[in-house]
Amino acid sequence: MRCFRPRSGKAADGVAAVVETRQASQSQQGSRDVREGVEAGAQQHYQLSRIMRPDDANIVGNVHGGIILKMIEEAGCIVGTRHCNAQSGDRCMAALVRVEKTEFLFPMFIGEVAHVTAEITYTSEHSLEVQVKVIAENILTGAKKLANKAALWYVPCSLQNVNKVMDVPPIKYTSEEQEEQGRNRYDAQKLERVETKARTEEVVPPPPNPEDPPKEQHTVSFSQSSLIHLVGPSDCTLQHYVHGGVTMKLMDEVAGIVAARHCSTNIVTASVDAINFHRKINKGCVVTVTGRLTFISSKSMEIEVLVDASSLVEADKYRAVSAFFTFISLDKDNKPQSVPPLKIDGEEEQRRYDEGNARYLQNKAKRLADKQRQQ
Ligand code: COA
Repeated sequence: MRCFRPRSGKAADGVAAVVETRQASQSQQGSRDVREGVEAGAQQHYQLSRIMRPDDANIVGNVHGGIILKMIEEAGCIVGTRHCNAQSGDRCMAALVRVEKTEFLFPMFIGEVAHVTAEITYTSEHSLEVQVKVIAENILTGAKKLANKAALWYVPCSLQNVNKVMDVPPIKYTSEEQEEQGRNRYDAQKLERVETKARTEEVVPPPPNPEDPPKEQHTVSFSQSSLIHLVGPSDCTLQHYVHGGVTMKLMDEVAGIVAARHCSTNIVTASVDAINFHRKINKGCVVTVTGRLTFISSKSMEIEVLVDASSLVEADKYRAVSAFFTFISLDKDNKPQSVPPLKIDGEEEQRRYDEGNARYLQNKAKRLADKQRQQ
């Protein structure tokens, strides 16, 4: 195995561009980094396994998507933090900054064992990509199925100063192609992030007023739901900000409530579009997680989830995260079934519906292309 040093930099417009490797004057530091990278190579994998219990699942026994996302994030955080501390300098913690679009491939049930395997697959100067696989094992029959695959990006933040981003030791790649593919994924997500940053700055929707007259069923406002959560120590990292997995679990919960209110059936998470974590949420903050339906196909529901954070005492409120979740309605035999159409009210809802439709068609075409490539 060879150790390839990642190359990255910023173009004038702030978007990442590939640049030449570090200067020759840094060669002494470079060779130390490479040695450390090789040593850190042993830390590139991590696996956690856990039996699924009733409080991980809904009333019919399907494990919540949010629980799976939380386990995925825990495994990613462990492998990322371990890797970034395999060098001298400040001790640090890998903070989740992005999760790529994630598909839930097979449902998991109470009693099954989730084997979550995390592997560092790319490192840039200040970030690392972790790919995670979740295998569900039926320990009575030995049957195993791939329940989920995800790609997460972490940034090491110093324990001394939470806003100080540390360097990431390079990893070992098995080939130049593998490194090249990683760099392409890195460049692609950097470009995409510029677009989503604008969306997270959108105005916060007003919370539904309980005094209002009852809403008409199957409208956006009928199922819109919010959850308010006070961030406690058990939600936080050693540096007192919320674990990404905790936030994703809350988001999945709200999205699930919206979906269930709309179709009044058992529902499961089918996928989550890419999520970017631009800002930290600190211990003691109040988070308001709001979900609203944006689009409905014949058998799926797209729910936009917005996470706003505010301090208990100060008036500042900011959008910490937003994402689109897709849920499916299931019948008694766990088969997808039709969902009631969404009654649209006004131009804004229509705009969001049309955008959701475009995402739906794009995702469907991509899934089809992936399937054809695999055949
Ligand atoms: N996805 C992937 N990588 C990201 C990213 C994102 N959303 N945001 C930042 N990065 C990477 C950058 O590419 C850069 O790495 P590079 O130099 O190798 O390209 C590195 O992070 C630092 O970027 P920089 O612009 O210097 O810092 P920043 O202003 O983006 O701040 C954090 C980085 C981590 C301090 C900040 O994004 C943050 O606090 N995010 C929230 C983290 C968190 O709380 N996670 C839990 C969520 S509940």
